Amino acid sequence: MKILIAVTSSISAYRIPNLVSQLKKQGHDVITMVSEASKAFVSPQALAVMSQHKCYQDSDEWSNNDDVLHIKLAKWCDACLVAPLTANTLAKIANGICDNLITSTIRALGETKLVLAPAMNTRMWDNRLTKHHLDLVAQYYNTAIIDPVEKVLADGDEGMGGLANDETILDAMK
Ligand SMILES: Cc1cc2nc3c(=O)[nH]c(=O)nc-3n(C[C@H](O)[C@H](O)[C@H](O)COP(=O)(O)O)c2cc1C
Repeated sequence: MKILIAVTSSISAYRIPNLVSQLKKQGHDVITMVSEASKAFVSPQALAVMSQHKCYQDSDEWSNNDDVLHIKLAKWCDACLVAPLTANTLAKIANGICDNLITSTIRALGETKLVLAPAMNTRMWDNRLTKHHLDLVAQYYNTAIIDPVEKVLADGDEGMGGLANDETILDAMK
């Protein structure tokens, strides 16, 4: 399967190169793209090496004269996995905003499966906007949601909001 992974800026983004490696071992073709803020937590180079494809970022949209990158990526994939999914990017998708490579690509997915793996602090997860936004996205996209897990989060708080473990995400992609 051709899997497009969108990485947004939860600290758990550091886990994604390893996830890419596991998906590759299962025989999937994987392309990654990152939000600007996520580059604080994960190296595009690590994602490129693990996926054996360029890792795309916002600047690539504007330095490419041959084709429209977000449309090309949306057409390429059989499934788009957003992991980790921030509250910010979730809110943008739910409201149809497409102001960067990731949100523009998602807006162009059509019927392609959109798999969301949210990760955020419990206080953000518990805000009713989160469920409202997930419900909205489910109305407009062919969506699957990988629920977060309860754990001690990066900021020391304990509760719901950690990125699901790798096995759960790998199972969901099957
Ligand atoms: C150290 C740190 C950790 C963060 N972790 C999360 C997180 O787990 N989930 C989340 O929704 N936002 C988190 N944020 C906030 C997002 O990075 C911020 O909302 C950002 O604008 C999201 O941009 P993006 O959705 O384009 O990646 C974190 C910010 C910092 C500084």
